[in-house]
Amino acid sequence: MSKQVILTGIRANNDLTIGNYFGAILPTIDMARERSDEFQVNLFVPDLHSFTTPIDHSQLQEQILHNVQLFVAAGLPLDKPDIHVYRQSYVPAHSELTWILDCFTGFGEMNRMTQFKDKSKQLVDETGIDAATAQETLKGSTSVGLFNYPVLMAADILLYGATYVPVGDDQSQHLEFTRDIAERLNKKFNEELFTVPKAVKQQHAFFGKDQGLRIEDLQDPTKKMSKSDESGKGVIYLGDDPDVAAKKIMSATTDSLAKVALDWDKQPGISSLLQLLSLFTRRSLDDVAEEWQGTERYGDFKKAVAEATHAFLTELQSNLDKVDNEQILAKLESSEKSMNIQANATLLEVQKAVGLR
Ligand code: ADP
Ligand code: TRP
Repeated sequence: MSKQVILTGIRANNDLTIGNYFGAILPTIDMARERSDEFQVNLFVPDLHSFTTPIDHSQLQEQILHNVQLFVAAGLPLDKPDIHVYRQSYVPAHSELTWILDCFTGFGEMNRMTQFKDKSKQLVDETGIDAATAQETLKGSTSVGLFNYPVLMAADILLYGATYVPVGDDQSQHLEFTRDIAERLNKKFNEELFTVPKAVKQQHAFFGKDQGLRIEDLQDPTKKMSKSDESGKGVIYLGDDPDVAAKKIMSATTDSLAKVALDWDKQPGISSLLQLLSLFTRRSLDDVAEEWQGTERYGDFKKAVAEATHAFLTELQSNLDKVDNEQILAKLESSEKSMNIQANATLLEVQKAVGLR
């Protein structure tokens, strides 16, 4: 029997933060390393998803490569046969299956998806217009691509019969949609057509604790650190100069209790710095908290976190410089070749089911 498939896509972006790194990239790479003996692991760059919202197209090629370079710098082994790294647009079956799935997807079903709601909320926050007007404005100005991109995501998953799909909470609804459309077509045409991915709850159980990691903004430690933050003062980008990043740590918001303790309610700033120190040094949070527990001079503590941040970025950036692009391109090409074979086999079954073949 062939191996079960774990699959995930990480969007191409140049401004990734340490939140993206520790929240999404590293757990995925660790999982690929640990599970590729038991599972087939598909890690792809969803490049067709890149322009559902406007981007600078002249940067896209570089960003796609940069993403794969980051995976490698974060420790992705390129020599394991059951880890596949590929660019979505190099496997045309993704687009073709999307069209077929589109024709079995309800307009209302897509309208309920979160990215519409999130976008309208963003617009409400930015412009102060009311939610109903924002929704109407969005319907007129957003692309059809943004509207139905969950269908493309479903095709990404179903083409390879993936069982486990590690994604953040914001993508859970898309995963549920993938299950719905798979079950719908299986019922209509053939129960064997698609492998239905596991439900979100089971996914969480399978992937364990890493799912819940959340890194806070340095200036406002009750808010998630995000690449879309406007000032960027509380955000550490993977491309930040290590000296600049260290300064951001030194000016992080703390409190006036003058005693280091791990207490997310009363001391979110300090707790968040403890968390960073634990991630950068790959030690457990309890261990790090115990070491600093009770320290009264925040300056000394911050200095330790700043140094760890500096060391982490210096190492990551030097790993990035050392990445062998030829090796990456060779891996992409060989994975894309085998993924075309797998994806086309699924597509053919679907084409037969709907009467195209
Ligand atoms: P951003 O908020 O930076 O725009 P995205 O929403 O594009 O990030 O998320 C990309 C991935 O990175 C998701 O899997 C998300 O869970 C993870 N991620 C983003 N920010 C953080 C954070 N501050 N802490 C932990 N994980 C994060
Ligand atoms: N939509 C995901 C995101 O925005 C990326 C993605 C695209 C994906 N296709 C996927 C994730 C398939 C998992 C499986 O982060």
